[in-house]
Order: sequence, then structure tokens, then C-alpha cells
Amino acid sequence: MSQKIIVTGGCGYIGSHTVVELILNNFEVVIIDDLSNSNKKTLERIEKITGKLPSFEFLDLKNEEETKSAFKKHKDAVAVIHFAAFKAVAESVKNPLMYYKNNLLSLINTLEFQLEQGINNFIFSSSATVYGVPEELPITEENEVQRPFSPYGNTKKIAEEVLEDLVKTASNLSAISLRYFNPIGAHESGFLGELPNGTPNNLMPYITQTAAGIRKELQVYGNDYDTKDGTPIRDYIHVVDLAEAHVKALQRLLNNEQNKPLEIYNLGTGNGSSVLEIIKSFEKITNISLNYKIVERRPGDVEKLYANTALAKDKLNWECKRGIDEMIASSWKWEENLKKEQ
Ligand code: WQD
Repeated sequence: MSQKIIVTGGCGYIGSHTVVELILNNFEVVIIDDLSNSNKKTLERIEKITGKLPSFEFLDLKNEEETKSAFKKHKDAVAVIHFAAFKAVAESVKNPLMYYKNNLLSLINTLEFQLEQGINNFIFSSSATVYGVPEELPITEENEVQRPFSPYGNTKKIAEEVLEDLVKTASNLSAISLRYFNPIGAHESGFLGELPNGTPNNLMPYITQTAAGIRKELQVYGNDYDTKDGTPIRDYIHVVDLAEAHVKALQRLLNNEQNKPLEIYNLGTGNGSSVLEIIKSFEKITNISLNYKIVERRPGDVEKLYANTALAKDKLNWECKRGIDEMIASSWKWEENLKKEQ
């Protein structure tokens, strides 16, 4: 009998790729999603890849009654992986209350009602943004968590603090928080990938949409940073590597291998790439000349961010298998498939 996992936000970018890996690892998956930043068609995409259609509960986790009854219905689940959250940094600066309400209320209702049903394992989708401007590089989990610049980042920091307080109580909660660096790429099949609603905030979808003619020009936010080519450095990680790390974290929880009730792991490659390096790689791989222009810096951008990945390698027995070229090639394959579907 397959163990049941509840995946909130499972129709989203990282959530859907994680659902694929969970199914391929013989877990039964129930997706809870309000489709506010995703599409129900993702369920069919998951089925096309895995041969299995995950169960789906269409609900808003801010709704207490609906959330309570969903967890009651699936009280046989053994863990929750919580992706459901708004995630656009710039939007969160413009509309902080929307972010605090959605991201924190969804988290609190999820935790309250899963614990009420005795579902004590929880994996949280966190972000390297909690480090703010890192005091040292590469960033380890011991790096001081600072006041993130954006409300989006602060909801991730506050969520981790909620988990810290919960595991100190008699809640029986066992939790792992995964701090993502910069997820990019798409499933190798080309049937699943990032599908942001509206104008992309993140670099990779903006690059592929510019190359596909959906966007006129990519704006490169500043080339006056103290980096090799003046553009900011990020630790880009393949979304499928990220998904596989979630399965490893889940297995650690289910096998009771944890050293403490709340563990935190960086999920990155340990390598930094600049914006111009990503652009040049894209042009080399696709043989497309990208239309871009250097403009002013984007407020809140950090100069350099890349991970020390030793802890995840040691404790999760996980490390990245896919490099930048595969990340970029898979992103472009997905963009081209989207165009064929139009
Ligand atoms: C990467 C680099 C930009 C767009 C944020 C969150 C993080 C995670 C990923 C949600 C930066 C540059 C970007 C563009 C550009 N959360 N850029 N032109 O800001 O590192 O991280 O998104 O998914 O928690 O903090 O990612 O992809 O927005 O930017 O020049 O049109 O690309 O300046 O240097 P970021 P990003």
C-alpha cells in the first residue's frame, strides 16, 4: 500500500515537479491547490509523465473550514509538503498584506489541521532569500538569517520561526525546511515546466519568453556590481534536482533519521553564475541571439548568492546531477513545446 503525501501548491512549478518524483517513488499524492498561480492542466501533464493522475482538492488554504475537512478526508496521509504561497518579490513589496495574509494563514491552517489529524511530518518550501545580504560565501545554514528585504522573503523567515516554536511544544511535529537558491529548468520530457501567470519576475522564464517572441526585450538589471562581468551572481539549480531533494528529505522524516525535530538545508549547486553568463549560455545552446539591454539595478537585488551544499549532501544523501546547460536546454524545450500547444 503506497504511503499518501499531501502536497499543497502541487500544481505550481516546483510542486508539480516534486509530485512527479513522488509518484515515481511509489508515493500516493493528493494535491491541494487554489490555482491562483497555476493551472489545473498541470494534473494531466503529471499523468502524461507518470501514468498516474494525482488526487486533487481545489481549495484555498486560507479557508479554515475547507482546509479542516480536506485534512480530515486525507487523515491517512503520512506527511505534508507545503509549497502553497505567493512568491513574486516585487509584488510582495507593492502588496505586503496580501503576502503576509496568504502565505502565513495558509501555513498556519495547514499545520493546525494536519496535526489535528496526527499527520506529524512536514516539509517546508523556504528560500535563500532569508539570508538577506549574506555575511559570507558560500552560504551555510549557520549563516545569520537576516531581515529579508521583501515581505515575500520575510514570510519565509517567519514561517521558519513558527516551525521552530512548534517543534519546541508537544506538537510531535517533525519538520524539514528547504532553502532553495534559484530554481530553473523543466522536466526532460518537455511536458512540464515553469508557467508563470502574467509577466515573469524571474530571469529564466523572461529569457525564454523573449527568445520565443512573447516579450520584446530582456532588461538586465545592472552591470555595475562587483562581479566578473558586473552582473549579479546566483546559484541556479535544476528544478528536477530540487524535486529529488524533496523525496530524500521525506524519506529522512519517514525513516526517523533526523537529528532534531526541525532541520534546515540549503538546496543549491554550490556554483554561482552571472546573468550575462546565463544569457551567453542560452545563446550558445539555442543558437538564438537574445535581445537584451542593460538597465538600472532592481531594488533589493543581492550582488552574490551561492550555497554551501555540504549539509544536504551529507544528511540527505543528495547532490545535484544536472548542470547549467541542461537547465537552460530543458527550459527552452519547454518554451518551444508551450508554443506548439497554442
Ligand atoms: C535572478 C537574477 C536579477 C529578471 C527570487 C527570490 C527567490 C526565488 C527566486 C521565487 C537577478 C536578474 C531577473 C530580469 C534580470 N523565489 N534579472 N532581468 O531575485 O535571485 O530570487 O526569485 O521563486 O526566493 O528572491 O531571482 O530570477 O528574479 O533574478 O536581470 O528580467 O536575474 O537582477 O540578478 P532572484 P530572479
